[in-house]
Amino acid sequence: MSAVSRGTWKSNTGFILAAVGGAVGLGNLWGFSYSASQGGGAAFVVLYLFFVLSVGLPVLTAELVIGRHTGQSPIRAMGAIASRWKWLGVVFVAVGFGILSFYSVIMGWTGRMLLDFALGWVPSDTGTYFGQISEGGDAVFAHALGMILTILIIAGGVQHGIERVAVVLMPVLFLLLIGLAIWAATLSGAGAGYGFYLKPDFSAVFRQPTVTGAAGQAFFSLSLGMGAMITYASYLGGKGSIPGKAVAIAGADTLVAFVGGMVTFPIIFHFDLLADVNESTIGALFIAVPRGFLEMSFAGRLVGTFFFLALYIAAITSAISLLEVCTSAFIDSLGWERKKTAWILGILIAIAGMPSALSTEWVGFLFALLGQVFLIFGGLMLALITGYFWSGTALEELRRGFDSAALATLWIWLLRTVVPLALLVVLYFSISQTVIPAAKALFGASS
Ligand code: TRP
Repeated sequence: MSAVSRGTWKSNTGFILAAVGGAVGLGNLWGFSYSASQGGGAAFVVLYLFFVLSVGLPVLTAELVIGRHTGQSPIRAMGAIASRWKWLGVVFVAVGFGILSFYSVIMGWTGRMLLDFALGWVPSDTGTYFGQISEGGDAVFAHALGMILTILIIAGGVQHGIERVAVVLMPVLFLLLIGLAIWAATLSGAGAGYGFYLKPDFSAVFRQPTVTGAAGQAFFSLSLGMGAMITYASYLGGKGSIPGKAVAIAGADTLVAFVGGMVTFPIIFHFDLLADVNESTIGALFIAVPRGFLEMSFAGRLVGTFFFLALYIAAITSAISLLEVCTSAFIDSLGWERKKTAWILGILIAIAGMPSALSTEWVGFLFALLGQVFLIFGGLMLALITGYFWSGTALEELRRGFDSAALATLWIWLLRTVVPLALLVVLYFSISQTVIPAAKALFGASS
């Protein structure tokens, strides 16, 4: 397959915005705030930063190095490192397929909320309303529509689809978030909200679920462990500093999550929603927050529209990166044509998402299994492969456009020690504490 027909980014900024678009998603705007509310506010934020730096950045760098060096999507990229690792690429594509199948359903709820806020159609009983739109025909429709939009963008190609959309939508997202944060600052509960968010409660931080939760959240938020960053980096030509790009992507992702907290915490305190948030994460976002907005009549309707618009933009740029992983794998491995591939895979994913559109418990289960366990496992494998079996080539690639030999050595050292150890621990806890309970909720086991 020639490099010409695979596509390349038009500019470095385009690449960064696309990668940030892939990373910034529902995980940043909601998952982060939720975890921070449960994990001691600023103490969680500090812990999160620690994981981004010590685990997230090294794995992100590894993915970018693999992608740029091989110039291939995950299956062929892993096969290029050694043919015995090809299966891992296949797992990545399957995980991308599975994550998108439920992610698109959540995106659909977000889109529906956006539409209904814009039209003033959200009824005051947001609980019943969310029950209606989250499972069944309405959810199927919104999910299918989101998939069609995603397919159309991917069918447009790297430059004319992904990059063009990211270059327009990401700045819009940043402006929306800044606007929302400024609005949130004017709410009467803002001070209490910031206090809760920014005052570290270190007693919460050293509880094990907080620690492993922070690591899992960092991984999901940075879109690591399934080849999304390998795929995007495979369209990078030339040299340029990979650590520089990794820092830009991780920094922007973290900043967006942080600003997301500056929006959500004042809202939570102004409308007195902390009890709802403690109860359920999805419920807080789709039931409690909308109920709060409705209390403010017209201003609330406007803010609700902007709030869910921001969420939808964040979600669709992530959905794009998930579909691109699958699409590019079929293009590179089987020589399929892009448009056809995007439609075929997109439709299959839409069908695979039906159970999620019919049952929110299925969403919870898939998120725990694929969004946590499999991503952590993928990251663990990438760290071991890059650190132990491929470090010579990896270092050479890293040093193209990057001067510091000391940092390069530190990177390999982290991939060999800290990263696998941390990920193993997180893997253990995410299996025992998230997947198993989610499976029980879904399959109704009673023990
Ligand atoms: N990072 C996205 C979020 O925070 C989700 C996501 C998009 C993702 N692409 C991914 C997660 C690839 C893992 C892998 O919502």
